[in-house]
Amino acid sequence: MVPEVLLLSLALLLGAVGIQITDLRVPSAVRNNSGSAALLDCEYTLKPEELAADKYSGLVVKWYFKNSPSPVYQWIPGQKPQDLGILKGKLDLSHRASDHGATMHRALYITNPTTELSGEYKCFVSTFDDEDFMTKKMVVFAPEKSLEFTSSRFGPDAVNLTCRARGVYPQPKMALYKDPD
Ligand SMILES: *[C@@H]1O[C@H](CO)[C@@H](O)[C@H](O)[C@H]1NC(C)=O
Repeated sequence: MVPEVLLLSLALLLGAVGIQITDLRVPSAVRNNSGSAALLDCEYTLKPEELAADKYSGLVVKWYFKNSPSPVYQWIPGQKPQDLGILKGKLDLSHRASDHGATMHRALYITNPTTELSGEYKCFVSTFDDEDFMTKKMVVFAPEKSLEFTSSRFGPDAVNLTCRARGVYPQPKMALYKDPD
């Protein structure tokens, strides 16, 4: 292919790209029941003709949690955003990620995330003739409520060492080290 033909086909290809997610921002770790909100934002771009069209060419924004086939959030521009399933009652639906009618309710604003909301989040956007998605994981962690270490001898050369953490999430990796001295 001569370079001009290559450039032209590249331009046609780029021109054909419709809705596209440009960034998915999900906090990787937040503390359980901390009282502070978690913002999961899904940035996307539309073609100029889609932006100009009535109802943005059938734009629908959906969020999914883990591998569930039913969304936990849905927004269609011009309509009220909906919290669904596990996120029902856990979002501030008045939160606006932007002032633009095509993007204002694209984000999840979880007011007080708790451990059961740990997992993979998928933002899925679609128009009449295009769709895109991106996924990211968020962990809502809980520090231990108690940590204890006990040792008990049960023979002349046997000792039982127990390290126990309670109320910690997710399940921790535990390791036992011996002081070289
Ligand atoms: C996380 O917070 C919720 C709400 O306070 C509480 O019910 C739950 O036990 C906590 N989870 C852990 C693992 O501490």
